[in-house]
Amino acid sequence: MNIEKQQKWDQRYRQQADQDTSACAVLQQYQHLLPSQGRALDLACGLGGNALLLAEKGLDAEAWDISSVGLGQLNKIAEARQLSIACQLRDVEQQPPEQSLFDVICVSYFLHRESCQQLVSALKPNGLLFYQTFNVDNKNGPSNPKFVLARNELLSLFADLEVISYLENDRSQLNGQSWLVARRR
Ligand SMILES: C[S@@+](CC[C@H](N)C(=O)[O-])C[C@H]1O[C@@H](n2cnc3c(N)ncnc32)[C@H](O)[C@@H]1O
Repeated sequence: MNIEKQQKWDQRYRQQADQDTSACAVLQQYQHLLPSQGRALDLACGLGGNALLLAEKGLDAEAWDISSVGLGQLNKIAEARQLSIACQLRDVEQQPPEQSLFDVICVSYFLHRESCQQLVSALKPNGLLFYQTFNVDNKNGPSNPKFVLARNELLSLFADLEVISYLENDRSQLNGQSWLVARRR
């Protein structure tokens, strides 16, 4: 576990006044593709907006994050909404998901290029990936290029998957962000 990173995010979630728990736009827009049952992961979930939607849709939702404070808040929100979400404190860079576990994986506003191939392998055949995060055209996103996508980069990071939707810098809903919906063959 990267303790420094954990403390940074714990601190952020302690200070965060507004608790936005909406799912990312790509998951909201393509939720009709979700299977009616199965195992679904919100990776680097934060307050778990994606996990909440996945659980509402009847999936066995799991939410993994390095911040115990964020996960604690998600637990409370899920309990209040009577939703069951399996929260796991986990450094997903050091411990990405194992092979062929998930029917759905959703990642928003988190990027760790080195483990993208493991995300592909963690999908079951026909499993779906929903990915949305900042790209180089974002003026307000992270300044560290490590956390920012190049143009079309999601397409190359997940080249082994079958693309269902790819969008970049859509002016109405996605300025400075990219999204991908893709399926494991
Ligand atoms: C910008 S937030 C995004 C949270 C959420 N996905 C969302 O869309 O609101 C980035 C999240 O990644 C988590 N994170 C950063 N590094 C991580 C790691 N190595 N393992 C697991 N989670 C990590 C942070 O704790 C934080 O919750």
